[in-house]
Amino acid sequence: MEDNKIQDLKATTQLTHPLGGGGASVHVFAPATVANVVCGFDVLGFAVNEPGDEVIMRMTNKPGISISKITGDDGRLPLDPAKNTVSVSVQHYLQSVGRTDIGLDIELHKKMPIGSGLGSSSASTVAGLFAIKTLLGDDADPAKLLPFAMKGEEMACGHGHADNVAPALLGGFVLIRSYEPLDVVRLPHPAGLYCAIVFPDVDVPTREARQIIRKNIQMKDAVTQWGNIAGLVSGLFMQDIDLIGRSMKDVLVEPVRSMLIPDFYKMREMAMGLGAVSFGISGSGPSVFAFTKDDETARLITQKLQQHLTSLKIGSNTYVSTINDAGPKVIG
Ligand code: HSE
Repeated sequence: MEDNKIQDLKATTQLTHPLGGGGASVHVFAPATVANVVCGFDVLGFAVNEPGDEVIMRMTNKPGISISKITGDDGRLPLDPAKNTVSVSVQHYLQSVGRTDIGLDIELHKKMPIGSGLGSSSASTVAGLFAIKTLLGDDADPAKLLPFAMKGEEMACGHGHADNVAPALLGGFVLIRSYEPLDVVRLPHPAGLYCAIVFPDVDVPTREARQIIRKNIQMKDAVTQWGNIAGLVSGLFMQDIDLIGRSMKDVLVEPVRSMLIPDFYKMREMAMGLGAVSFGISGSGPSVFAFTKDDETARLITQKLQQHLTSLKIGSNTYVSTINDAGPKVIG
């Protein structure tokens, strides 16, 4: 996202409440997200109920941003506010609203694995942006925070894609119709859609998972892919879970990235055999996810895939969720 786009927001963002001064604080949760949704590389994503990250932000009397604590990251994330995606995004936001005079202290509590393909950096960044928006009483449309969140993504993995940050910020199912100019569309979804997520404990950094993708594609593959994206979006509008399922096929990215995921095709066969509607890579992986029509099937799939990974001596985390329509929320 270009800086001039962020500057444009300055004129449209109204702060309706004055600052509370030093001492005011807020505790925010922001959800994990499943980006791509198999066929929509960089353009589709949805939020889940769990896991998610938490930020506690306090106003201080000393101008500038500090990060006093990060938990749940095994010491992997920087406390230096110039290098942390949360503080950098918040700093961009403060510049855009002309409030670099204030002081903030941030605590980041990671509640999900880093490099999981579940939008870990996005959840942290969105929690931070929602916290500062809340502290400043900025009642502008949350979508206005997107360019700042994308700055965080750019820093985390070298590319400012929005298919994690947009659903983390807006909740629900989101289409990035265009990046230039940014045009984000919230999509409906059937109520009875469950998501089973399995995170195999192997490292797949998004930056690297993006580098291995083919740069050129065949027209016939493009035709298959855009037919599937249109089918998926139609299925969401029509509440047709079977159409959603048969549209979630990826001939562009999955054939390459699946190599980074232990026993990907075996896990897909197992999940589909157990009644999944669809199965694929969550974001850039290594997490995988399945849509199901009920909670019980989703739990059975996570249990069986976890057992399979254990038999391969690979640890895993599992989650079962409906689609989270709420996005970030103040929890304290
Ligand atoms: N669309 C991004 C990618 C999501 O697949 O690289 C990263 O979580």
